[in-house]
Amino acid sequence: MPPLTPPERVRIVEVSPRDGLQNEAGRVPTADKAELVRALVASGLPEIELTSFVSPKWIPQLGDAAELLEMLAGDLPKDILFSALVPNMRGMERLLEANEKATRTTGRRAIDKVCLFTAASETFSQKNTNATIDETLERFAPVATATREHGLQLRGYISCAFACPFEGEVETTAVTRVADRLVEDLRVDELSIADTIGHAKSEDVTERIAALSHVESTRINLHLHDTFGRAADCVRAGLRAGVRSFDGAVGGLGGCPYASTPEKRAPGNIATSTLLHSIEEEGFVTDIDHAKLGDAQRLAEELVDRARTGASA
Ligand code: HMG
Ligand code: MG
Repeated sequence: MPPLTPPERVRIVEVSPRDGLQNEAGRVPTADKAELVRALVASGLPEIELTSFVSPKWIPQLGDAAELLEMLAGDLPKDILFSALVPNMRGMERLLEANEKATRTTGRRAIDKVCLFTAASETFSQKNTNATIDETLERFAPVATATREHGLQLRGYISCAFACPFEGEVETTAVTRVADRLVEDLRVDELSIADTIGHAKSEDVTERIAALSHVESTRINLHLHDTFGRAADCVRAGLRAGVRSFDGAVGGLGGCPYASTPEKRAPGNIATSTLLHSIEEEGFVTDIDHAKLGDAQRLAEELVDRARTGASA
């Protein structure tokens, strides 16, 4: 009998505190966000995207990034990676300040990974960051340098890697062009290929990952929004193409407010529970505790519901 090989491990990155809460019209109090993060930590997730250091004029929902990280001081285990979005040097300065404060008080920085975000669609880039794709990449150069100087990891998101809410279908070459700039010029550790509006079919995922075959598959992450219930199929296609890292949000929360059109609100992320089932069905393992993930999901739904209805705890 051939020796049994242990099942391969797949990484789930939980993005509900950031992507999940940025699209909520109701204000989720900072203490509630901290409670959600603690519940997510307890469920065994290896990585959590905590917040964004973007302009609070653009995303007021996450204007409390520094306060949240201060509130979480002492509750962020060293063996879990914590990340945050950064659009420019102003955001990076805020992140470094939060890290210095956390290190001083707890001996552990708050944020381990900086997430840059650009797009494969010019119209989305303009709507989301008031900049062309090239301008976003120029803004990122000093952020990438500072990230490396401080020993942090670097992710580069490519939004609208399959379709754009304003321009429609997106060409593969538009994705590979941006991917190459992120990898070669900015030397990101990880590329996150994002289906911002949940448009992809499994064959599109196979095709995009094949087009990126010059990037090690261990450096690729898939960030799927789930509009038409196809995200689980896309996860399976990603796994078969060698991807071993996927983003999810408990309860399927999420969406980029700047991907919404007058006809359609931006869709939520793939639910983490759906993602977990898809990964396990394909024979891979994670360290996630299903019951504790369920607790975190219930809490997220309760907090969001409270914020939506304006009810107090
Ligand atoms: P702008 O208005 O062109 O820039 O925004 P600005 O430099 O003129 O700044 C405007 C004001 O914001 C100024 O304040 C700045 O100081 C301030 P004022 O002088 O008017 O008082 N400001 C900041 N404040 C705090 N932190 C900062 C910061 N930067 C400027 N970092 C900018 C340009 C990029 C800042 C803006 O467009 C922005 O913040 N955009 C972010 C939008 C966003 O967060 N979208 C959602 C995340 S992306 C996403 O969801 C997609 C993803 O999930 C993948 C997928 O699904 O596709 C990642
Ligand atoms: Mg997203």
